[in-house]
Amino acid sequence: MNPLLKKAVEARENSYSPYSKFAVGAALETVDGEIFTGCNVENASYGLSICAERTALVKAVSAGARKFKRLAIVADTPEAVTPCGMCRQMLIEFSPGLELILANTKGKTEKINLSELLPKAFQLTRQV
Ligand code: THU
Repeated sequence: MNPLLKKAVEARENSYSPYSKFAVGAALETVDGEIFTGCNVENASYGLSICAERTALVKAVSAGARKFKRLAIVADTPEAVTPCGMCRQMLIEFSPGLELILANTKGKTEKINLSELLPKAFQLTRQV
């Protein structure tokens, strides 16, 4: 198994998802080779739940990392899981060319670039 994906699988074990019972794991690699992992963390007030991808991203950014090379995501889906729209927008802020390794728990994997999943992403641009 890809080593980054293995980290995502391990991170998924810490998922706190008693409401959806849908556990997700993520592992984000910086351009310097550092790895930050994350899982989804839910709340009794459902809307407060945070996805695995954003958990990993926020951990990384709060530790000072800014540029990322690859992200592995895993969940128990029929096909390799894809990140939600909110996570795509959060990730593209830092790394438009991020390589994604998508996987399900049965070993199905798929590689895709974030720019393909979020074309024409919103960016703040000042009009002068
Ligand atoms: N979830 C993720 O962690 N990542 C995604 O890309 C999609 C959804 C989580 C949020 C919630 O805890 C559960 O999966 C069900 O939506």
